[in-house]
Amino acid sequence: MNFYENILLVENPDDILVLVNKNHQLYQKFIPNDLVVIDSKYSTGKKLVKKEVKEAFEKLSQDAKNLGFTIKVESAYRDFDYQKKLYENYKKKYGIEYADNCSARPGHSEHQTGLAIDVCGSNGDYNLFEKSKEFLWMSQNAHKYGFILRYPKGKENITGFKYEPWHYRYVGDAALEIYENNLTLEEYL
Ligand code: DAL
Ligand code: ZN
Repeated sequence: MNFYENILLVENPDDILVLVNKNHQLYQKFIPNDLVVIDSKYSTGKKLVKKEVKEAFEKLSQDAKNLGFTIKVESAYRDFDYQKKLYENYKKKYGIEYADNCSARPGHSEHQTGLAIDVCGSNGDYNLFEKSKEFLWMSQNAHKYGFILRYPKGKENITGFKYEPWHYRYVGDAALEIYENNLTLEEYL
């Protein structure tokens, strides 16, 4: 796969199975049609996602809480311009190769769909999510709520991004099949 070559414009940006990656770009002005705020009990500030994602995540987070786990959303919907700032900052600070491994170019981030979330556990830092006691529970249960780990270890050549233990993508019912067969969204689609 040649990343950032032969780029297609996404035609179904509000579809829960929409594919956004280095070869599928959202148009700059795209804003999801049903953004809502996640209840502050389940987030680290004002975070927006699509309605279906809010319902699923709040259930996940509450069920986790009942078991003694704290899983909150640290980043959710990000518009084109904000993603541009994030990407440009990485590029300026660490160079283009590093930036492209960990940050999507504007229009290429799933965060612009309102279907992606970055989560943190009880250690309070999404970067350290893998070290939190919540990580294992999330890895084994997120699919029951419609979420998949979007950038798994060992699939970097397919997703185009380095392993991100904290980044989950809502796909609804498809999550079960994706989880059970250890697939990326690219492979599933
Ligand atoms: N960190 C993910 C790949 C993003 O920037 O959307
Ligand atoms: Zn993310």
